[in-house]
Amino acid sequence: DPDDLYVDHAYDMIVVSNRLPVDYEEQPDGGIGWKSSPGGLVTALEPVMRAADGAWIGWAGVADREFDPFEHDGISIIPVPLSESELEEYYEGFSNDTLWPLYHDVIAPPSFHREWWDAYVRVNRRFAEAAARAASDGAVVWVQDYQLQLVPKMLRESRPDLVIGFFNHIPFPAYGIYSQLPWRRQVIDGLLGADVIGFQRVADAGNFSRAVRRLFGYRTHGTVIDVPDTDATSNEGDVRRVVARAFPISIDAAGFEEMARRPEVQRRAAEIRESLGNPETIILGVDRLDYTKGIRHRMKAFGELLRDGRLNVEDVTLVQVASPSRERVETYRQLRDEIELTVGRLNGDYATLGHQAIAYLHHGYPRDEMVALYLAADVMLVTALRDGMNLVAKEYVACRFDGDGVLVLSEFAGASDELRQAVLVNPHDIEGLKDAIVEAVRMPRRERTRRMRALRRRVIDNDVAKWSASFLETLTGAGIITAGVTEP
Ligand code: G6P
Repeated sequence: DPDDLYVDHAYDMIVVSNRLPVDYEEQPDGGIGWKSSPGGLVTALEPVMRAADGAWIGWAGVADREFDPFEHDGISIIPVPLSESELEEYYEGFSNDTLWPLYHDVIAPPSFHREWWDAYVRVNRRFAEAAARAASDGAVVWVQDYQLQLVPKMLRESRPDLVIGFFNHIPFPAYGIYSQLPWRRQVIDGLLGADVIGFQRVADAGNFSRAVRRLFGYRTHGTVIDVPDTDATSNEGDVRRVVARAFPISIDAAGFEEMARRPEVQRRAAEIRESLGNPETIILGVDRLDYTKGIRHRMKAFGELLRDGRLNVEDVTLVQVASPSRERVETYRQLRDEIELTVGRLNGDYATLGHQAIAYLHHGYPRDEMVALYLAADVMLVTALRDGMNLVAKEYVACRFDGDGVLVLSEFAGASDELRQAVLVNPHDIEGLKDAIVEAVRMPRRERTRRMRALRRRVIDNDVAKWSASFLETLTGAGIITAGVTEP
């Protein structure tokens, strides 16, 4: 009975994210089905949620459908509906055509539309109301990502008893860029409703604190921001202490390694190499088809290496997995056209009957197939122009229990703060990128294993369980400190 799941004020731990850990899937017979939405967040939070008897609030991935709450793998799922126009204005519009390009350093120009902002406010309020209704007295509510930045303040206003966390999975830009946002004050005000605001990189947290000082003049010391307390019970000059700091997200490293060790996955990896004609070197790119990922830069560099004869199509194949994403947003459509034109040209110019230059796959794949691809790849290319973290880089490392494989990693991905033994690149520098690819292809085995050993230590020691534990410890600790602070 769904009424048992949606008991008011029943949950001590709530995660709120735009996307639920499960996506709605229409069955051939017209019935309702649910499939796990792939992604780090789910694996990160599932164990925590199951232990805490928590609820997950989010959107089921389709417009104009209402679903009752249900139970999935021991987690209560509370779907929030979006209308078709909200899908256009809040999700495709303000989230993915305003905030996404703005927060990724305006790689694409952001669009500013007042109707989109209105929809963003309206939908954020709906998520906040769902959380306020489901949360028990003093519950912990953890809000995720840029689609829901207003939820912390909305929640605090209706439920001051809650402990509220926010984690931003994407970059937070420098003030000179952030300040373009017409609603720059409202967004920061919304975030400051949280007790702890988490970012991927130290630089992101710094950009946020700077924006708070510039726009509000609040005092910051280290990772703490003094926010004037407007609670009904507070006195003049009281402050609430908000923590804003980096918590670099990670993956279930042991889970990836376990999958990589399965004989059937290793057989699949060998089969992939075989089907590509057993080239000496397989280079792999795995991304959502997004303009932040630097897929064009990567293809340009690879194409020039073939043109210049520094790489030979008989020996080297680039496999590019580009999973479909946000396909109704114009910038994404354009990108797809450009990339597919480039793939066609490169294969037309350099492929032979037996050897493709680029094997391009516009699909999402299940995790075991991704792991087989990671095992098959001698070189992994992560050339993002801007990326909050980039979990693909960490997944590749976690899968390489054989200690082999070379990671080429953009310094503009958050992962580069930690994965220092990768071959680090500036993807805008096409000559430098070409040299890095050649270096990776030719790297002697001793050096490959030396680097991979160091990378693996890092990823295995800092897995996603550690990430969520560290955030939640800071959050629940912060709740106690906050209650005691009344001095400015
Ligand atoms: C990024 C964002 C997530 C988002 C994911 C997929 O990783 O940080 O919040 O869920 O992309 O994008 P989508 O628009 O399909 O949810």
